[in-house]
Amino acid sequence: MPSAPRTASPLIVTLDGPAGVGKSSIASRLAGELGIAFLDTGAMFRAAAYTLGEGAWDWTQGILQQKLGDFEFSLRGSGKDTELLLNGQPLPGDIRTEQTGLWASQLAVVPSVRAYMKMAQIFLGQTTSLVAEGRDMGSVVFPGAQFKFFLDAEPEERARRRCRQLEAQGKPAPLAETLAAITQRDHQDRTRSIAPMKPAEGAVVVDTTHITENEVLEKVLAVVCGQR
Ligand code: DC
Repeated sequence: MPSAPRTASPLIVTLDGPAGVGKSSIASRLAGELGIAFLDTGAMFRAAAYTLGEGAWDWTQGILQQKLGDFEFSLRGSGKDTELLLNGQPLPGDIRTEQTGLWASQLAVVPSVRAYMKMAQIFLGQTTSLVAEGRDMGSVVFPGAQFKFFLDAEPEERARRRCRQLEAQGKPAPLAETLAAITQRDHQDRTRSIAPMKPAEGAVVVDTTHITENEVLEKVLAVVCGQR
């Protein structure tokens, strides 16, 4: 196993990219190789959307701020065994549906929600070394991260991967619907005015369309461990 770079302050590796590109798998495996925690920031937005419910994106900023004030995220463990907790409890299992993904994407355009999430993520990264995955980790939340990556893949391939993942979880979804949801989310996430999804300055961009998950991990590890 390659050895993780030694740093005095927490090591932060950012992994951004669109829905269905495989960020969570790569991020959790990379975190395992480095012996550090993995932060799934999409899960934070999904948990908020699921808990607040449909239409929360239309609430006033004041009400949203008040509701989010009751949310406290924490991390336990490392690598694949990292647990993201909300108020000390595991996140609800149903946050992984495309429906919750769409709600999360809608909630994620709201300024007070983005401000809260950014603060919560920075707070976690102040004390814990992280592989942080999401949309704006390298560009906005951790611009000073030691390593930044942006994973991409063609939408059709991402829809196929998401369908395989949902099927493995016993929640099969039609390919056409999954592709439509992914395309809608891409549009929302790329065109929003605050923290739009894009490769961060200095990020290594990896097109994963035609390569395996193991090959993506090798490329990322080569940068983090091999080239130091
Ligand atoms: O990665 P995911 O599919 O679980 O993310 C769900 C939604 O949450 C995504 O469509 C947009 C939002 N999100 C965000 O705006 N910023 C992040 N850092 C992570 C997710």
